[in-house]
Amino acid sequence: MTAAPEDDALGQQLPSVAVTPPGPKSRAIAARIANVECPSFEARREARTAASGSDQAPIVYARGRGSNVTDVDGNRYIDLTAGFGALAFGYNDPEISSAVFAQDYALSMALGDVYAAECKAPLLEALASLYPEEGARVLLGSSGADAVTAALKTAVLATGKSGVIAFKGSYHGLSHGPLAACGLSSKFREPFVQQLNQNVQFLDYPDGELSVATASLRAALRAGDVGAVLIEPVLGRGGCIALTDGYLAAARTLCDEGGALLIADEVWTGMGRSGQVLASLVATDGLPDVICLGKALGGGWPISAMIGRGAVMDAWAAHGGSTIHTSTHAGHPAGTVAALTVLRRILRDDWASKNRQLGDRFLAALTREVGADSGTVSGCGLMIGVRVRGGAVRALAVSRKLLNDGYIVLTGGASGDVLTFTPAFNIDASLLEAAASAVGHAIRTP
Ligand SMILES: Cc1ncc(COP(=O)(O)O)c(C=O)c1O
Repeated sequence: MTAAPEDDALGQQLPSVAVTPPGPKSRAIAARIANVECPSFEARREARTAASGSDQAPIVYARGRGSNVTDVDGNRYIDLTAGFGALAFGYNDPEISSAVFAQDYALSMALGDVYAAECKAPLLEALASLYPEEGARVLLGSSGADAVTAALKTAVLATGKSGVIAFKGSYHGLSHGPLAACGLSSKFREPFVQQLNQNVQFLDYPDGELSVATASLRAALRAGDVGAVLIEPVLGRGGCIALTDGYLAAARTLCDEGGALLIADEVWTGMGRSGQVLASLVATDGLPDVICLGKALGGGWPISAMIGRGAVMDAWAAHGGSTIHTSTHAGHPAGTVAALTVLRRILRDDWASKNRQLGDRFLAALTREVGADSGTVSGCGLMIGVRVRGGAVRALAVSRKLLNDGYIVLTGGASGDVLTFTPAFNIDASLLEAAASAVGHAIRTP
């Protein structure tokens, strides 16, 4: 591997691509992985290569610093995904790393819900205090899907009703509970449909006329035995689309009337990414019963949380003293101190406002560079999408061109035609300017 230059210690460098990606070392390691890994991922790459006509063979990461990744062939990229949005402060953030390594040295594992690690107390207190009412309770997990699973279980316990209202284009993770409510693509659900909750209604994501959206929610709540309305306050993987103003407040009223919990899935939006600490708390009259967090919460360490209104969470205590929901790594000490560090820092330094300002600049730069003929830019804070004219195949080709230029970008959206950007919160503004110009160039290149 080519050594990364010394001066990239802060990880805020422009790309440097010497070998067309993927280089020979990436190809060799990827082939070893493909030989033994579940074949689903390679099958997806082959299908994408065939559909887009552009090679979708992967690079292999060797090193990450700040917003830079260096691959095994020595190419340096700007990571505009921040590890699926998890790396709130980029790779190897000194504050998070030192807290985690000190914790690991002191205590590498505790006994979760039986004998907790000391650091669990301040994290639970900090998470509970994010909820604007007294008495909120928290359940920790390891992934976003864990948090949504716990939220759906909370709804059944608190309402006695198993039905769920979810939204087209939404994504909540792929373990069985969330999968049943995954509106992004029916393909995710189809092979497993017999194992899933059958009582899920999918509504259009409410990004249009408020009265139409609320009428549809009212009708759906009347139609079934609904215990939960599960919504992303800004559609993330579905293409960075904001909710219609006033919808959460209307949904709050309708959920109260219908006896259902309002669950905000903030796994993507949360911890400041949307430009608010929590996107669902902006309209306080639309306060959700349950909020799910993951991704950025751990700053790259696998931890998630579900925060519930006290009155709703009481339902968990009414089960004869059996622990009906826990897991080995829930409350894992390293993830716990990572989350505590991220959360304190976001509040201390007001990263939500910084993300809003930086995101506004990036959105304006993308709008200018892409141009209305080539795509449409949407989103808020540091979750921004560019819907590429020409559809999914074109979006894949553009993302590949960007990779070749040294920019790591994912495609999203219900039909795969959106380039999605979820950079680290502390990415240098100059890198986003360079990225916007690279996106503009790639999207206009035939
Ligand atoms: C809104 C939302 N909820 C839940 C999840 C699932 O999180 P995880 O992949 O950590 O299980 C995701 C992942 O992208 C997400 O975007």
